[in-house]
Amino acid sequence: YLQKVKDQGTLVVGTSADYPPYEFTVKQNGETKYVGLDMEIAQKFADNLGVKLVVKNMNFDSLLVALETHKVDMVISGMNPTPERQQSVDFSKVYYSGDQYMLINKKDLARFKTIKSFKNKTI
Ligand code: ARG
Repeated sequence: YLQKVKDQGTLVVGTSADYPPYEFTVKQNGETKYVGLDMEIAQKFADNLGVKLVVKNMNFDSLLVALETHKVDMVISGMNPTPERQQSVDFSKVYYSGDQYMLINKKDLARFKTIKSFKNKTI
């Protein structure tokens, strides 16, 4: 399949560009650009293969069908490898596991002890 991508000279990647910071759009002189963490990874894949990246934007729910029917070569879309999805497609290793945090200044530690302390407080 890699040879097919090299022969066609493009890596066609499916995404649903509605999920910042993974994939989203920006307008640049009237042109829609696909940007975000996943788009940078996809670009690196294309660069390494020496081919042009082509992004196909679609509904999240259409992505796996597009992959299975070869409308795209690969999907990158912040998609978690659920057991159900794993039955039909082959996921890469997890490249980002989204432990996300909120942070406060250390000096405010005493004011924000639990999630409830955020209620009706001004910073
Ligand atoms: N991580 C969630 C999932 O795998 C949501 C991903 C949504 N991604 C998107 N590009 N809209 O179901």
